[in-house]
Amino acid sequence: MSICGLDFGTSNSTIGVAHDNQQTMVPLEQDLSGQWQTTLPSALFFGFEDDEIDFGRHAIARYTNGEPGRLLRSMKSLLGSSFMGDKTQVKNRLYSFDEIISFFISSLKAQAEAFTGPDSSPLESVVMGRPVYFNDTDKKLDQEAEDHLAHIARLAGFTHISFQFEPIAAAMDYEQQVRKEELALIIDIGGGTSDFTLIRLSPERHAKADRQSDFLGNHGIHLGGTDFDRQLSVNSVMPEFGMGMPLTDKPGLHMPGHYYFDLATWHKIHLLYDKRVLLGLKDFRATVSDKSKFDRLLALLANRKGHQLAGFVEQAKIELSGSSEAIIHLEALFKDIEGVFAPDCILTQQQLNQSLQRDIEKIFATLDEALTQAGLTHKDIDTVFTTGGSTALPMIQTCIDTALPHAKQVVGDLYTSVGTGLLMEAQLRYR
Ligand SMILES: Nc1ncnc2c1ncn2[C@@H]1O[C@H](COP(=O)(O)OP(=O)(O)OP(=O)(O)O)[C@@H](O)[C@H]1O
Ligand SMILES: [Mg+2]
Repeated sequence: MSICGLDFGTSNSTIGVAHDNQQTMVPLEQDLSGQWQTTLPSALFFGFEDDEIDFGRHAIARYTNGEPGRLLRSMKSLLGSSFMGDKTQVKNRLYSFDEIISFFISSLKAQAEAFTGPDSSPLESVVMGRPVYFNDTDKKLDQEAEDHLAHIARLAGFTHISFQFEPIAAAMDYEQQVRKEELALIIDIGGGTSDFTLIRLSPERHAKADRQSDFLGNHGIHLGGTDFDRQLSVNSVMPEFGMGMPLTDKPGLHMPGHYYFDLATWHKIHLLYDKRVLLGLKDFRATVSDKSKFDRLLALLANRKGHQLAGFVEQAKIELSGSSEAIIHLEALFKDIEGVFAPDCILTQQQLNQSLQRDIEKIFATLDEALTQAGLTHKDIDTVFTTGGSTALPMIQTCIDTALPHAKQVVGDLYTSVGTGLLMEAQLRYR
């Protein structure tokens, strides 16, 4: 029986297979420099000209090159939300989100099967990662999200499907390098969620099948890199499109904020391309105080450039983790469109820190709760192991240093630690 571990992430996904007595993270796609990567951005593009569906970097490139079609990203954010179970129109067909996510999972499965070769049996058994909470407050929605993901995996052709918490999978990966017993705090801050696991690790414990007595606590919050992008966008980029501008006929009132919040939220951007939404928006033109900003917003939506803008904001955030300033050239969005003036948008690290402050406070309050629930204090923690792309943010690093000044810090692979642990778990469960 062929087995795998699959990390379906909000931003990036991986699949690892056990094959020829070896565990391998499957190379999924070449990046711009031609290097094979074991991560696939969780993106899917429906091309309207050739009716082909593409995935990952290639999907994003087709979309940003202006090919007509529909791009979907952050699809995991739909699980556990009120949109779960909805359908969406793509060209002239309605698809359920389950179906769309299953196309993405099927592509990962097919790539893994192509990697193991025609003589290997099809992949049947999978351990999938899941965040500690798909929904922070509603247990029923949380369970439904896991059920949806299991259904999606069945649609993709898996028959034996089970789940492991993503930070526990990361702990299993880290434990391979642990030489003596320690109490570890695993921090996984990704695109959609921030998760914490408290666990006792050692080489002896690593060999045990049942680790229940080693787990001291699991906690998490539905906040991550895509929320950081939204905050940065709302605070520093959306004002260039008229967010917050007064309406001249209604003293004290401003342009409704919901347009801008949706435009700054990956999985809601397409809602603004709806003809009725655009018509409703146009009604505001007569009364807005800054028509050039308003027209910029209309041109952005009419030309379906919202995802591209969100990509620019994410890129600026990443740049700001290594430099004090980043520039978004808004004019690049309108280069083929006449009559739209768009200035450069200069973002500073200070703006980023201010935008993220509240979210990061909530994330670290969740860490405090995790420690309290487990009856521990920061002094009990021997090691902090970090993974997830958002842990690269200097502000997060500073918070970790402040919260756990005495613990040894180990930085895991930001993108593959969870997937590696899921594959190890699959071997334990299905072998
Ligand atoms: N250098 C960086 N600075 C800040 N953020 C970064 C950096 N590199 C990547 N990120 C962010 O990390 C996030 C992706 O991380 P990751 O791939 O671990 O998430 P994920 O596993 O897909 O999400 P989740 O586990 O929450 O479902 C994105 O929001 C991305 O913008
Ligand atoms: Mg992740």
